[in-house]
Amino acid sequence: MAGRVDGKMSFVTGAAQGLGEAIAYMLAKEGSKVVLADINYDKVVSVSERINNEFPEQAFSLKLDVTSEDQWKESLIKAEKLMGGINVLVNNAGIGGGTTIEDTDYETFQNVMKVDTDSVFLGCKYAIPIMKNYSPGSIVNTSSIAGLIAGHNMASYNTAKAGVWMLSKSVALHCARQAYNIRCNSIHPTFINTPILDNMLNRSNVERDELLMKLARQVPLGKVGEPNDVAYTVLFLASDESKFITGSEIKIDGGISAM
Ligand SMILES: NC(=O)c1ccc[n+]([C@@H]2O[C@H](COP(=O)([O-])OP(=O)(O)OC[C@H]3O[C@@H](n4cnc5c(N)ncnc54)[C@H](O)[C@@H]3O)[C@@H](O)[C@H]2O)c1
Repeated sequence: MAGRVDGKMSFVTGAAQGLGEAIAYMLAKEGSKVVLADINYDKVVSVSERINNEFPEQAFSLKLDVTSEDQWKESLIKAEKLMGGINVLVNNAGIGGGTTIEDTDYETFQNVMKVDTDSVFLGCKYAIPIMKNYSPGSIVNTSSIAGLIAGHNMASYNTAKAGVWMLSKSVALHCARQAYNIRCNSIHPTFINTPILDNMLNRSNVERDELLMKLARQVPLGKVGEPNDVAYTVLFLASDESKFITGSEIKIDGGISAM
């Protein structure tokens, strides 16, 4: 049976664990070649090996610090060679930031902006000139529900993820106007059970199950999300099934934003 992204060539950042790992696995399972890029090279190599054991020669690993302009340029050239092109970019790498405006020092604010927003700027800027040669293309940028609805104690994260939201629309409109046949959309998950929640655990002094239950109480569907809830959304946006969707934001939030 044909996969939903058969023949695509995808580049996924932050693919060593959590959502990036689930997204890379899902894209490979559905027929895409995938370059898994992460600052944590050892871990991303072992994820690629796991994928290749199931889907031979689909996955490749690269070390990439998404805050480095030079590394972005080099990685995209390498990825184009490894896969024979790039037509899907998933800007997923990111870090949390759980402090209020008064508690956040300027260096921390700038670092969250660099990892969560500047990285998306760099990825889009340098991937588009390559991707336009392998269209149709799709860029999926990972924002957060926090990019649409602010939390009181996430000053830097709210700001960074709101930036990803509008940047995605800017990219979508530019690519449409240039007739590149590249779409760009943002996704906005709420709490998903990945290692990123470990920071919250460290701050709150509760067990993981207790934290998950506490977070679940804030979600109308009564649970936190699973990585595949996000991976299936990315699969749809990466595939040609979504060929008329660009400049959109998709909320994966169990109903939080409906309240
Ligand atoms: N899990 C959630 O609840 C949730 C909710 C909304 C949005 N998000 C967003 O989803 C994305 C993935 O989150 P996750 O839950 O999988 O987090 P995670 O912490 O489990 O994984 C993040 C990955 O990004 C990598 N990374 C961090 N800094 C990097 C850098 N400078 N260069 C390259 N790679 C880097 C890490 O090594 C790690 O593999 C993030 O952008 C996050 O903000 C997560």
